Amino acid sequence: MASKELIHKLEQTIQNIPDFPQPGIQFKDITPIFLNPKLYEEVIEDLANFSRGKVDAVCGIESRGYLFGIAIAVALEVPFILIRKKGKLPPPFVSEKYNLEYGTSEIEMREGQLKPGQRILIHDDLLATGGTTEAAARLVEKQGGIVSEFSFLIGLKDLNGAERLKKFNAEVYTVLEY
Ligand code: PRP
Ligand code: MG
Repeated sequence: MASKELIHKLEQTIQNIPDFPQPGIQFKDITPIFLNPKLYEEVIEDLANFSRGKVDAVCGIESRGYLFGIAIAVALEVPFILIRKKGKLPPPFVSEKYNLEYGTSEIEMREGQLKPGQRILIHDDLLATGGTTEAAARLVEKQGGIVSEFSFLIGLKDLNGAERLKKFNAEVYTVLEY
């Protein structure tokens, strides 16, 4: 659980941008966090504390999942594995398709970077519908990894992403929720 103080600081820092990228969407702009190195450090410490001693590697989801994911892995002294959007990684890679509101998308990971039996933290900046994270979890399982934790900076409660992740029997942590 993040301290009330940290949550308050983040609420003051993260900007709400109405109607972006589409009318009706309240976009959460996290970029001001990176203007404040002390606050960034506190966020990493909070996210790392949640997973300390419980995971063997961190998988971060392109692109905003890299902003905190690599630092979490370094703090935990475990490997960081990139999950990328289709077409960015050289072969060999493993891929997983998932559904978007319109059409499908695909994510990929270099083959062999994740070792079977490893306990994996899947990290992303935001849990919205959970579609992206669910595909990431399937990608991890496909390679014999154990999805043991999910962490996010922000969870959007109304979209019920956490519900969608229940089937993985993993702990879910969000620093703050809207
Ligand atoms: C955003 C966000 C999460 C995802 C959450 O990424 O960073 O990765 O959407 O949505 P979901 O829970 O409904 O799947 P986006 O695809 O916009 O790309 P980016 O991280 O590269 O900015
Ligand atoms: Mg993203």
